[in-house]
Amino acid sequence: PPLSRLISLADMETVARNVLSHKAVSYYSSSADDSISYNENARAFSRFFFHARVMRPVSQCDPSTTILGYKSSIPVFICGAALAKLGHPQGEANLTRGAYQTSIIQMVSSNASLSYSEIMATAAPSQPLFFQLYKNKNDAIAEQRIREVERLGYKAIWLTVDAIVPGNRERDIRSPWDLEEMETGKKEVHVDVADGELDGGDSGFGTAGALIAHDDRDMTWEKTIPWLRSITKLPIVIKGIESVEDAILAADAGVDGILISNHGGRQLDYAFPPLEILHRLRQQRPDVFNKLEVYIDGGIRRGTDVVKALCLGATAVGLGRPFLYAQSAYGVPGVVKIVQILEREIVTAMRLLGAASVQDLKPEMVERIDWQPI
Ligand code: FNR
Repeated sequence: PPLSRLISLADMETVARNVLSHKAVSYYSSSADDSISYNENARAFSRFFFHARVMRPVSQCDPSTTILGYKSSIPVFICGAALAKLGHPQGEANLTRGAYQTSIIQMVSSNASLSYSEIMATAAPSQPLFFQLYKNKNDAIAEQRIREVERLGYKAIWLTVDAIVPGNRERDIRSPWDLEEMETGKKEVHVDVADGELDGGDSGFGTAGALIAHDDRDMTWEKTIPWLRSITKLPIVIKGIESVEDAILAADAGVDGILISNHGGRQLDYAFPPLEILHRLRQQRPDVFNKLEVYIDGGIRRGTDVVKALCLGATAVGLGRPFLYAQSAYGVPGVVKIVQILEREIVTAMRLLGAASVQDLKPEMVERIDWQPI
């Protein structure tokens, strides 16, 4: 269908599921075990209701914010997600161009299907890009990669800590596809994984197993964060915080931000929905929000979802699958389209809540209910 007919992120997902190859749908949509965390990530938003305020001037309504000091037109960023070429020949470059055209920020995956320099070359001169790091268990190799992306001009390191082993993604495992053949271009998608680390993956874990086979399983707060600080001056964000306790430890470790996330339900099934952890952190340790920026991702599909997270103290939120689906189905215009849809939904929600800027979004504007809406 023409892009103009799409009015929600759900519409975009429907189109993408119809046009994508079986392999791509399997990899993009898969989630761990019984998809409980995947489903609850989204459903958690239905437990939070608004206390809207009226009679507040909102004809001027500005949904923009800053993330680690970089301007963003809406409080939304593109989460690092592997293998964008699986869905579209231009892959990550679609995301980079779409992010530029809409003034949002892209986080580039360690397992991007274009090289880090190709992606940077696609970016406009002033366009900030973040880098998502899977830390190699070999410190020297990890250091080399960090120095490379810093030299290329990436603006922050988002260290993923919730994927030291791959989650059990059965849809992905049931859809085996040969990464080696894809690497050499024999299949329809040429995947040029930047670290050349595909060998040695445990095929029993599907695609994810091959991609993170060399990840460091022995990271610690005491060792890994000071090590990272010693090799880079870039801001450090920990991606994959799944408990209030670890959010506090991250603040104590002096990092610049945390992304509360269960990897879109792809890793530990029954990991709490990020919105619930954010809510508990807000209640138990409001001081943490003064020490670092807090973000969440997972299941965010509506402007109201974004606004609820901001009311509870998030600086911004990340979306993974919606951007993969959008670039797969329509390339750059698809990416632009979902940002426009989100912006319209966010501004509508803010106006109806009585908020003229993101600073006006307050914890007392949302309440967690203990009944389940229909
Ligand atoms: C991911 N995610 C991810 N995270 C990461 O740190 N490095 C990666 O390479 C990937 N790869 C990846 C591939 C695919 C296909 C998906 C769907 C996700 C997780 C991603 O950054 C983010 O946490 C989730 O996608 C957020 O959930 P939603 O928005 O997809 O529900």
